[in-house]
Amino acid sequence: MNIAIIGAGYVGLVTGACFAELGNKVICVDNDPEKIALLKKLKMPFFEKGLDKMVKKNVIAGRLVFTDSIEHAVKKSIIIFICVGTPPKQSGEADLSYIENVAAEIAKNMLSYRLIIEKSTVPVETGKWIEHTVKINNKKGIEFDVASNPEFLKEGAAIYDFMHPDRIVIGAESEKAKKILAKLYKPIKAEIVVTDIKSAELIKHASNSFLATKISFINSIANICEKTGADIEKVSYGMGLDKRIGRAFLKSGIGYGGFCFPKDMDAFIHISDKIGYEFSILKSVRSVNENQKQVFLKKIEKELWIIKDKTIGVLGLAFKPNTDDMRFAPSVDIINSLTQSGARIRAYDPKAFEKARPLLKGVTFCKDPYETAKNSDALLILTEWQEFKHINLSRVKKLLRNPLIIDGRNIFDPAKMRKLGFKYISIGR
Ligand SMILES: NC(=O)c1ccc[n+]([C@@H]2O[C@H](COP(=O)([O-])OP(=O)(O)OC[C@H]3O[C@@H](n4cnc5c(N)ncnc54)[C@H](O)[C@@H]3O)[C@@H](O)[C@H]2O)c1
Repeated sequence: MNIAIIGAGYVGLVTGACFAELGNKVICVDNDPEKIALLKKLKMPFFEKGLDKMVKKNVIAGRLVFTDSIEHAVKKSIIIFICVGTPPKQSGEADLSYIENVAAEIAKNMLSYRLIIEKSTVPVETGKWIEHTVKINNKKGIEFDVASNPEFLKEGAAIYDFMHPDRIVIGAESEKAKKILAKLYKPIKAEIVVTDIKSAELIKHASNSFLATKISFINSIANICEKTGADIEKVSYGMGLDKRIGRAFLKSGIGYGGFCFPKDMDAFIHISDKIGYEFSILKSVRSVNENQKQVFLKKIEKELWIIKDKTIGVLGLAFKPNTDDMRFAPSVDIINSLTQSGARIRAYDPKAFEKARPLLKGVTFCKDPYETAKNSDALLILTEWQEFKHINLSRVKKLLRNPLIIDGRNIFDPAKMRKLGFKYISIGR
């Protein structure tokens, strides 16, 4: 099938590469000329395991091309996925101006029937507005459908998630749209949930906010563990074995970040307020998440007393492992707060330092965990990269000025760390 993907970011590029891999002809469009120039040279604009190989293979096979021309892509493709960003405005409301622009551009360039699919995460009723925008810009009255097909992939495992999803959600209201999407997704073995467009939009917001709720819930329990001497790792293990609860997303830490949860929570709260429902659970989830960074900063202050002029090593900057994505990473608020208090920060991340550099002024970026630890008064762990679980702790101890590790991701066993002679502070235990 001929597919256009508008927006070649984390979602669009992975979607485009995977559909090409499945044998479709895909045109990926982006209005960022630098991104398109990079992609044409087969260079990835961000790190995602396996993506470079998949893109290269499909470009060479002639199934995947890149352009900055929506006009060209829309003229050539029956199926058009909208994968542009939906960033938060100051108020928390989703900024849907990119979606509106793209919908209008599609309408102006359609030659015959087009299926326009929103893959970006959007508030409920956005589909209705896309339809309206296409209608008023579709001067020739060309037939089209709008559908919703929210994406659930996780950065760091994006290709696997796309090819092996827990479910595929299709919000479509015409038989033609349902048929096209069913055919497109046929090679992927997963249950297809077909709904109306609004329900599909809500499935995405509801899923993300439920996962965020699990994280804030377990962080609240971690805070109770700290006050009572219980161990959050044991509590969450005991809870997670209950199939009704499940073990995923019951890991306590410094809170969730990334481009999805914080902004989707804000957008969901905003749209709920707008339609007259006070979503108080989500407001609490959000404030617990914000507070968790303060909980961590207080631990640092408790151990170091005065932050000014202390050297603090930081392992991990990305909002989670296996990605270089720094958007809404908790490390940014934590490091900037320490820098403002006068600390000198030395930091290391296996992949994210290029994206971190503009966000973290005055930070010294190190080449590995050992250079980071050297002469530091404390070592913080902010992202649970696999690499950190295997560092030579005896070497780290010798390099630190003070054998203090404050771990925001609970990657080590406290008893083992004590035995090695560290003062080891973690979350909820
Ligand atoms: N990143 C994730 O893990 C993830 C997962 C599921 C859903 N989503 C959702 O998918 C959407 C995209 O997220 P992302 O992380 O891929 O964002 P991104 O910022 O990485 O990519 C968006 C791309 O759209 C391009 N763009 C913006 N306006 C355009 C226009 N008019 N024409 C062509 N290109 C345009 C931008 O240049 C950018 O490259 C968001 O709504 C997000 O919430 C993201």
